[in-house]
Amino acid sequence: MLLEFNGLTRRFGGLTAIDNVSGHVAKGELLGLIGPNGAGKTTLFNLITGFVPVSAGTVHFAGRDVTGKPPHVVARLGLSRTFQNLRIFPNMTVFDNVSVGATGMIGQGLVETIFGRGERRRRISEQSWQALEAVGLQHLANQLAANLSYGQRKYLEIARALAMQPELLILDEPAAGLNDTETAELAACIQRLHGTGLSVMLVEHDMNLVMSICQRILVLASGRKIADGPPAAIRCDAAVLESYLGTDWE
Ligand SMILES: Nc1ncnc2c1ncn2[C@@H]1O[C@H](COP(=O)(O)OP(=O)(O)OP(=O)(O)O)[C@@H](O)[C@H]1O
Ligand SMILES: [Mg+2]
Repeated sequence: MLLEFNGLTRRFGGLTAIDNVSGHVAKGELLGLIGPNGAGKTTLFNLITGFVPVSAGTVHFAGRDVTGKPPHVVARLGLSRTFQNLRIFPNMTVFDNVSVGATGMIGQGLVETIFGRGERRRRISEQSWQALEAVGLQHLANQLAANLSYGQRKYLEIARALAMQPELLILDEPAAGLNDTETAELAACIQRLHGTGLSVMLVEHDMNLVMSICQRILVLASGRKIADGPPAAIRCDAAVLESYLGTDWE
C-alpha cells in the first residue's frame, strides 16, 4: 500500500476535527475525498502531509512510518500537495515558482555532494520544465506569476507540487472557482497525470468531477469516515445522502 493511515484523530480545543479515521491509497490509485464544509478534509490532508501534528493515529507512506515527520521530509519521500488557498509568489516568474518545488526536493542531498552545484541546477531546471509541460504552462515560464489568470495559477500550484516528482499527489479543491469548461480541462489534466502512473488523492466539491474521474471515494462528515467505495456505490449510499441533505453539497 502506498499510503496508509490508521486511527487518525485531531482535536482543536474541544473540537474533534478528525475522529479516528483510517484509510489507504493504493499505488496508481485516484482516490476522491469528499464531505460537507468543515467535515475535516483539509485537516486530514494536513495530518497526512505533516503540516498539522496528529492527536492520535499513524501515517505510513511507501512503507515508512511518517507520523509526526515535518512536511519537507514527507515531501522528499514522494508525497506532495497543493493548498486550498493558493500559495503562489506573485512577484516571481512562473518558472521560479515551480523551481521552489524542485529545490525543496533536491535540497543539499547526496546528489549535490557527488555532482556539485552545476548538476544540481541542471536537475532543478529539468524537473521544473517537465512539471510546467505536464500542466501545459511552459509557454508562460518567464511571465510573472501575478500576470496569470486564476485558472492558470491553479495549474502553477499543481506544477510546483509535480516538480518534487511525487509518487502521490494530494490536491485540495483544485477546481474551486473554475467555470465548467475550465473544470473539464482540469479533469483531463488530472487524468493525464494519473495515466502516467501517478497516484492522486483529490478533495473536491464538484461532484461531477469526483464521480467521473475517481476510482474510489472516501466520505467524511463531522470528522468521521462515513463511507468508502466506488463512485456508483457512494452515489446511492444512505449515510452519504443523509449527511449531505441540507448542506451546501451541490
Ligand atoms: N487550525 C485550526 N484551529 C482550530 N480549528 C480548526 C483548525 N483547522 C481546522 N479547524 C476546524 O476543523 C474543522 C474541519 O476543518 P477543515 O478545514 O479540515 O474542513 P474541510 O472539510 O476542509 O472544509 P472545507 O470544505 O470548507 O474546506 C472545522 O470545524 C474547522 O473550523
Ligand atoms: Mg478544506
